[in-house]
Amino acid sequence: MKSFLVFIVSFSIIFTINAEDSSHSEDMPHGFKSGDAQKGSALVGVCASCHGADGNSISSDWPKLAGQNQRYLYEQLQYFKAGERNNALMMSVVPYLQSLQDSDILDIAAFYESQVMSGGQAKDDEELLEMGSMLYRFGNMKKAIPACTACHSVYGNGNSLAGFPALAGQQVGYLTSTLKAYRSKERNAGEQALVMQSIAQNLSDEEIDALANYMHGLYK
Ligand code: HEC
Ligand code: HEC
Repeated sequence: MKSFLVFIVSFSIIFTINAEDSSHSEDMPHGFKSGDAQKGSALVGVCASCHGADGNSISSDWPKLAGQNQRYLYEQLQYFKAGERNNALMMSVVPYLQSLQDSDILDIAAFYESQVMSGGQAKDDEELLEMGSMLYRFGNMKKAIPACTACHSVYGNGNSLAGFPALAGQQVGYLTSTLKAYRSKERNAGEQALVMQSIAQNLSDEEIDALANYMHGLYK
């Protein structure tokens, strides 16, 4: 119990620091002004081969962007642009991102947010589903794993104001690899990544598989 409280307190510290001195909040107008989805649609031609024309990727290993909140998308694109978040496939579009203005990147984020995320189908494995839903909804206090619902919401829609990503329907392969990347601290762009690193370090491979399967199949 005590360690769990320490855990919660360290979260609030992370959030306080983040609220006050995030380098990216400077790029972002206070109160977060929305981008122009129409303009954004003209800027995403090179993204379609992997993320799909409507932001629904075909490969399980590539993230869907459709319906994701603008703030999260904007922040992640800035991390890729700055070389803080690295991925071999995304590398090919970094020079392109570097040629864009912040307002263009916001328009791209607005475009993907305006698209509809296609649903996913969880594997029908009772034990895996049970483990995934228990962890997602209630966490595991003994292992200092908080409930994912606290930030990503019960149906996995995330929190668009806070910029917490939506997870419902997301690709299983991507969910698995990105949770492992937080666990190994390879995914470390920005202060918010620390939150997920501290959670993922307590997840076993099996728990990650169970969570990915559950989140992929989540819907309202
Ligand atoms: C060659 C394939 C490919 C292309 C082209 C590509 N992406 Fe990606 N993108 C990926 C992969 C793979 C990832 C997952 C990276 C990781 O695991 O860290 C990703 C991640 C992202 C993310 C983060 C998603 C999340 O949930 O955190 C965003 C945003 C994104 N891409 C936007 C774009 C945009 C905008 C373009 C076009 C300018 C683009 N991508 C072009 C493959 C690609
Ligand atoms: C205290 C709030 C909080 C809690 C609790 C939380 N998350 Fe997160 N999560 C975040 C934030 C913030 C991000 C974005 C981090 C970044 O910028 O890299 C994130 C990102 C993610 C991502 C990456 C999404 C993407 O598109 O790349 C996954 C997957 C994820 N969380 C899964 C989980 C799971 C599973 C749990 C429960 C075991 C959980 N989260 C609990 C705040 C939280």
